[in-house]
Amino acid sequence: MANFLVLHGPNLNLLGTREPEHYGADTLADIAEQLHRTASQSGHQLESFQSNAEHELINKIHDARSHVDFIIINPAAFTHTSVALRDALAAVELPFIEVHLSNVHAREEFRQHSFLSDIAVGVICGLGAQGYELALQAAIKHTTK
Ligand code: DQA
Repeated sequence: MANFLVLHGPNLNLLGTREPEHYGADTLADIAEQLHRTASQSGHQLESFQSNAEHELINKIHDARSHVDFIIINPAAFTHTSVALRDALAAVELPFIEVHLSNVHAREEFRQHSFLSDIAVGVICGLGAQGYELALQAAIKHTTK
């Protein structure tokens, strides 16, 4: 049995109504429910957490040290700005996958740099909510190999 933590950064609480042409129609609750179902069907634990505050995400990453095996994170706008989030992930030494709903490489130039990608196990972008499912499948494989 593995423990997964799914983290969502700022503004992702508005999924479903926020710029659906970029982020799709699924709400955060839809995504969390689906991931939770997939994890529990294969006997794993999964917690989802969203915050608009950088320090809350950082605290959650620190707390994860004691019980989490793998993190899936959509850092949202903090992807492009946060050395602190990168340092937190590096500090706890937990493997993680970075997920973006939209294809950040097909958008504004400022979205094309990530402070996290080079220390991630992998990066998934542009596949909408399915990206989280694919990340979870990869995380399950990674933790049970
Ligand atoms: C995002 C892409 C980011 O550039 C943006 O700031 C977000 C969402 C995505 O899921 O596509 O808030 O991470």
